[in-house]
Parts: sequence; structure tokens; C-alpha cells
Amino acid sequence: MKHTKLSIAVFAIIGLLILFISSCKYGNVEGRFETEIYNKAKSTDGYVWFKYSAISLQKSAGSGHEQPLLKTRYNNIASAQLDSLGKIKTGAAFPEESMIVKELLDNNGDIEVYAVLYKNSKHPNADSKGWVWGYYNKNGTVRISSSLKGKNCSGCHSQSLNEDYMLMNKYYP
Ligand code: HEC
Repeated sequence: MKHTKLSIAVFAIIGLLILFISSCKYGNVEGRFETEIYNKAKSTDGYVWFKYSAISLQKSAGSGHEQPLLKTRYNNIASAQLDSLGKIKTGAAFPEESMIVKELLDNNGDIEVYAVLYKNSKHPNADSKGWVWGYYNKNGTVRISSSLKGKNCSGCHSQSLNEDYMLMNKYYP
């Protein structure tokens, strides 16, 4: 009898340990994805601003984002889809490794949130069009997990006049 109780306890402990270790591992993989995207989004190296201007814009009437000001930039791959005015070309299709970052700013112009669209169709968190949707606080903590595959974002970004999900042209003509 004593023996049975002991083995039940041992099994229970082993079971809990396995659960604990596997959840840590999962957490790390998720965390690594988010950190990679956040780091790419945070760096401004090689980025080009919408309309080639780093000026802060008032958020538009259609914005799904709470902060009052914003600035949008395109990495060196995405920026090939901009025209001579720095707007997105009609019919644009962003190639793999394109990254578009919208900096959401408070009233002082300080960054609060990075909203990210990252084209990487092989990424485990990519949606059916190959885009990964990231949403990070300034310090890198995740605000909305990219594992949700843009569930909170893509409906609004699929509205009329989007170009490969992009809405800047529509709201800042
Ligand atoms: C209710 C509508 C709505 C929702 C929901 C929404 N957005 Fe947006 N988003 C916009 C609009 C409108 C713009 C154009 C700039 C502005 O006014 O904010 C925009 C701009 C952007 C841009 C700049 C690129 C471009 O041209 O569109 C990125 C990146 C972005 N959003 C990411 C996200 C992410 C990530 C989410 C989900 C966590 C999200 N958005 C949810 C409406 C929305």
C-alpha cells in the first residue's frame, strides 16, 4: 500500500516536470520569434519613411490604433514598392522579407508601440498571404502575439483600397 502511494507520487512529480519543461520550451520558441521580429522592427537601419518624410502624422479616422500620432517606415526590400512620392505603388506585391513598421506615438512624439507587417511565408506565424502581424510595446514586450496570425488586424486591413493589406495610401492620399 505504502509502495503504491509512493509510486503514484513519483509519477505525478515526473508528469508535472514534463509539463513544466515542455511549456518552458514552447514559451522560448514563441519568445524567440517575437524577439526576432521586434529587433528587426526596432532598428531603423535602411528604412525609408512613407512619403519620404519622418514627420509625425495624426492618426487617421480609420485607425484601429489608440495612439494619437504615427510614423510608418519600410525596410530596404519593402521600399522598392514605393513610388517617386513615397507612396505605395498601385498593385504593389511586397516580396519576402519586406518589413513595414508603424511607430505609434504619444502626444510628445515618443514611441509607445510598434505595429509590424513582416512578409515571410515560411514563418510559422504567417497568415494565408504570407504576412506575420506583430504588435510590440516599446520595450519589446508582446502586446498582441503574432501567433494569432493577425486575427485582430487583417479584417480591418482587408478593407477597400488596401494594397497588399496596406492602408497608408488610402488615409494619407
Ligand atoms: C480598425 C482598423 C484597424 C485595425 C483593427 C488594425 N489596423 Fe493597422 N492600420 C489601420 C489604418 C487606418 C492604418 C493607416 C494609418 C493609421 O491611421 O493608423 C493602419 C496602418 C498600419 C500599418 C502601416 C502600414 C499600412 O500602410 O497599413 C501597420 C504595419 C499596421 N497598421 C499594423 C497593424 C497590426 C499589427 C494590427 C493588429 C494588431 C492592426 N494594424 C490593426 C487600421 C487598422
